[in-house]
Amino acid sequence: MNPSMSKDEDKGIAVRVALRCRPLVPKEVNEGCQPCLTFVPGEPQVVVGNDKAFTYDYVFDPMAEQEEVYTTSVSPLLSGLFRGYHATVLAYGQTGSGKTFSMGGTYTSAQENEPTVGVIPRVIRRIFQEREKRASSEVTLTVSYLEIYNEDILDLLCGSKDKPAISIREDPKEGIKVCSLQRGVPMATP
Ligand SMILES: Nc1ncnc2c1ncn2[C@@H]1O[C@H](COP(=O)(O)OP(=O)(O)O)[C@@H](O)[C@H]1O
Ligand SMILES: [Mg+2]
Repeated sequence: MNPSMSKDEDKGIAVRVALRCRPLVPKEVNEGCQPCLTFVPGEPQVVVGNDKAFTYDYVFDPMAEQEEVYTTSVSPLLSGLFRGYHATVLAYGQTGSGKTFSMGGTYTSAQENEPTVGVIPRVIRRIFQEREKRASSEVTLTVSYLEIYNEDILDLLCGSKDKPAISIREDPKEGIKVCSLQRGVPMATP
């Protein structure tokens, strides 16, 4: 186990923050953009400009591959999942910062084994593998997929072209609920 992880667990800190900095995209290179961050080797720290240092639980520099990001910061959550803990991975950042790329939101099944696939297909693969190992347990998997687009919540499993905007409510007993969001049941090992 990662030593910093056990330290955080001792302190009861359930949230960890990973910073990922993407490489410059070709358009930025063509426009003459320069990287403005430096990375401290062996430390989860980044320096903005000359002197503004920020430390996170994990820092991934532009050379970091999808595999490393997944193995370091997401895979430990999946071990917890099968010990009965909830897990959430939230990608946050401005448009163009690499959220969709990191999460694997543009994945198609043809790309399944490519090193560029992101977090979501890797997580799904691992959940199915763990399920296979637990032949004596009953494991039920359901999936929902939504996006917030221009402040509307859209159900991405809804097949119709004009997806109705759905609403989010807080139920005193069940907590936050996204009303009428479809739940699919994945049938086979992907
Ligand atoms: N780690 C990365 N390595 C190479 N290209 C990346 C990386 N992260 C993002 N990109 C590229 O940068 C662009 C913006 O990323 P994207 O994931 O669409 O951003 P966001 O979803 O945050 O708006 C895309 O062209 C994407 O392919
Ligand atoms: Mg995106």
